[in-house]
Amino acid sequence: ALINTKEMFRKAYEGGYSIGAFNISNLEQLQGVLEACKERNSAVIIQASKSAINYAGVDTLVSMVKAASDEIGVDCALHLDHGPDFEMAKRVIDAGFSSVMIDGSHFDYEENVAITKKVVEYAHKFDVTVEAELGVLAGTEDDVTSDVHQYTDPDQAVDFVNRTGVDSLAIAIGTSHGAFKFKGEAKLRFDILEDIQSKLPNFPIVLHGASAVDQEAVATCNQFGGDIAGAKGIPVEMLRKASSMAVCKINMDTDLRLAMTAALRKFFAENPKEFDPRKYLGAGRAAIKNVVLGKIDNVLGSKDSL
Ligand code: G3H
Ligand code: 13P
Ligand code: ZN
Ligand code: NA
Repeated sequence: ALINTKEMFRKAYEGGYSIGAFNISNLEQLQGVLEACKERNSAVIIQASKSAINYAGVDTLVSMVKAASDEIGVDCALHLDHGPDFEMAKRVIDAGFSSVMIDGSHFDYEENVAITKKVVEYAHKFDVTVEAELGVLAGTEDDVTSDVHQYTDPDQAVDFVNRTGVDSLAIAIGTSHGAFKFKGEAKLRFDILEDIQSKLPNFPIVLHGASAVDQEAVATCNQFGGDIAGAKGIPVEMLRKASSMAVCKINMDTDLRLAMTAALRKFFAENPKEFDPRKYLGAGRAAIKNVVLGKIDNVLGSKDSL
């Protein structure tokens, strides 16, 4: 069944771990994630961006996630990732999503407060939880790209949470979206996270752009015809440290994309006679499952949280 994030985050905060939020847009990604969570008895958030929803169809996604959740036996949240406006949030709530993000981080502060408040008022009528964002991550998220990183201001975060009634907040402390996160040394501003945590006790914080960019997956892609150079992610120890703090949700999309792509490239290279989609997509699904098992064990610490 679909559930919201309230209880998940309460337990994660108390237990010093995080819930994985994995982006999906098709059946095999969904099953790979849920199968891993079933095996580890782990809570999970399945999320879809606007472009993923346009790709798969909103009603198809809701039905598919509900059915897979029941069939595999893992209750999960179905969450809108980077909701661009009130209309999109309303559309997915009406379709049955159990959680939404309204991303007003690219608007000016007062506009971000206003749009977030409006989504919270609507969502809470249906027991749907809301995530918002304050600060700007460098990189591309859905169709919005930013070259500069704007760290979250802790005092503004307190004001924002109090005025909007939002259930969780995504912050900018140095992570970024996609496979190319750092040119030099990876650095996260744990001092900002600590400050926010002390000013907003028990309030769940979200980390976007948190893929580790496994170099083995990148190498496999390149070995079998890919051309991905200079990819670099967030070191696993930093994510583990964030999970032990106020961070309760860690977003990962790139790592799943890389794993699936590596598996398919390898499969095609090694099985030139095969043309059954269940074979190659099955290999992709197994690779996704494997990545998520590793995330639960090494990054999130969410084993037995279901
Ligand atoms: O933050 C962005 C997510 O990785 C979703 O990306 O818009 O290509 O689905 P997408
Ligand atoms: P990555 O690109 O690091 O996987 O981040 C995904 C994300 O934040 C989705 O909202
Ligand atoms: Zn994101
Ligand atoms: Na935590």
